[in-house]
Amino acid sequence: MQYKIVNTLVAGALALGATQVLALEQGDWIVRVGAAHVNPDASSDPIAGTTLDVDSNTQLGLTLGYMFTDNIGLGLLAATPFKHDIKLVGVGKAAETKHLPPTLTLQYHFAPRSNVRPYLGAGLNYTNFFSEKTVGLGDTKLKLDDSWGLAAEAGVDIDINDRWFVSGQLWYLDIDTKAKLTGDVAASPKVSIDPWVVMIGIGTTF
Ligand code: NI
Repeated sequence: MQYKIVNTLVAGALALGATQVLALEQGDWIVRVGAAHVNPDASSDPIAGTTLDVDSNTQLGLTLGYMFTDNIGLGLLAATPFKHDIKLVGVGKAAETKHLPPTLTLQYHFAPRSNVRPYLGAGLNYTNFFSEKTVGLGDTKLKLDDSWGLAAEAGVDIDINDRWFVSGQLWYLDIDTKAKLTGDVAASPKVSIDPWVVMIGIGTTF
């Protein structure tokens, strides 16, 4: 009788284990898709008696990972172009811009064989601004310099089954640019955008 119970327990444990075999190892590629939200913590040099602020935006995010070893991987953040309103604090919307902020990080995965896999990363962000335009500033043109900066990352993957996992990712990006305004309003304030980026999605390995 006891033997039967132990047998049943072992069979049950094996069946449970068999549904949770998604583990990371050297050579694995990881892909995650989801909603990526960019929430700037913006500040700027004074302009027109006030400062600039930058609104948040959500786009489709995609991250690609590659494991160099069982614990150390490379991560790339990509997304459809983010579109942000730029405001003069206390005045209102003054401009808008699109940008792409590809971010490359070196990651340490603490528990590659667990079905809950946290990791931390650090690396570089490059942000390319485009389609800038001013709103309500007459014949004023805007150009934002591209930015290189440091990036920090934290993430966790939680298995749904042996193929798919839920993914949560967070980055802090150091994005500093110069806003070159020419025409009716001429100024070139430095703008610190420094956003938190949150992405929630699903992923798989191959
Ligand atoms: Ni900064």
